[in-house]
This record gives sequence, structure tokens and C-alpha cells, in this order.
Amino acid sequence: MEGLRKLEKVCQILEQNNRNPGRLITILQAVQEEYRYLPEEILAFVATSLNLTPARVYGVATFYSHFTLKPKGKYIIRVCDGTACHVKRSTVLLDALGLRLGLKGSATTTPDMLFTLETVSCLGACGLAPVIVVNDEVYGQMTPEKAVEVIDEIMKKEELINGKKVIKF
Ligand code: FES
Repeated sequence: MEGLRKLEKVCQILEQNNRNPGRLITILQAVQEEYRYLPEEILAFVATSLNLTPARVYGVATFYSHFTLKPKGKYIIRVCDGTACHVKRSTVLLDALGLRLGLKGSATTTPDMLFTLETVSCLGACGLAPVIVVNDEVYGQMTPEKAVEVIDEIMKKEELINGKKVIKF
């Protein structure tokens, strides 16, 4: 049912852009906002709808780093690893967050699809180093403790929304 609702949304996005192949990037951006990533079958659907080859659509989706073909969590935590943040020990933040989220090995997304943890290069807020961004919210002068608190707050909020138990690791 959810899948069907989202597919309707993709059709709306295509209509809003007049099924114009020249608006492919705008269309993919809107689709990614809906799914939080670009599912392969939706890329194929977009290609057919725009009369483009799947290879062309796939090529655009993989060319821009802004697009992702892998599912991501509801909350995307980006730890800045630019020079200013790196010298202020951003890797310690990354380790603390990974531990709190229970991420193992090369996993970057929690199994419940709530969080994705990534690194980014300079976020342009070096004066606040070290910096993390959760979705669009910027947190400066982070310590491992403060970063974990940010996550715990979100977990509490989600518990209230979903009636889920907060998972302790
Ligand atoms: S290096 Fe992190 S904000 Fe610039």
C-alpha cells in the first residue's frame, strides 16, 4: 500500500515536470526526497516515463554524489571530516556515534532504518569545529558525549512517535 502511494507520488512528480527529460535531475531530486534514495525499479520507471534509456537515467543518478542508490535512515548523521574538524578529533565523534548506534563492520545504516552515519568534507562551518549535521540541523563544538546526547534525544522522540522502546546498546 505504502509502495503504491509512493508510486503515485512519482507519477505526480513526473506530471509536475511535464515528463520533460530535460528536467531529469529535478525529477530525481524529488523522487529521492520521497524515498530517501533512488530505488532501481523507480529509476527504470522514470526512464520509461521520460522516454530515456535506463542507462542514461542510471548514469545521471550515479554521477552526482548527492544521489544515493542505497536506502538510508530517516535521520542522516553527517560527521564533518574536513581539516578543521579532523584536527579537532572528528574521528572520535564518529566512533562514539557508531558505537551508540550499534553499527557493525562496514554498515552505515541501522537495521531499523532510523539512522545513517556518514562522513562529509568541510561543511563550511569550520569556526564551530568539530561539526555534525543531522538531516538539516547543524551541531557545532561537539564532544562525543554531546553527539550521543543528540542521538538519544532523537531516539526518545521516535519512541514517543512510534511507541517503540528505546534500544540500549
Ligand atoms: S572542516 Fe568541518 S566545517 Fe569546515
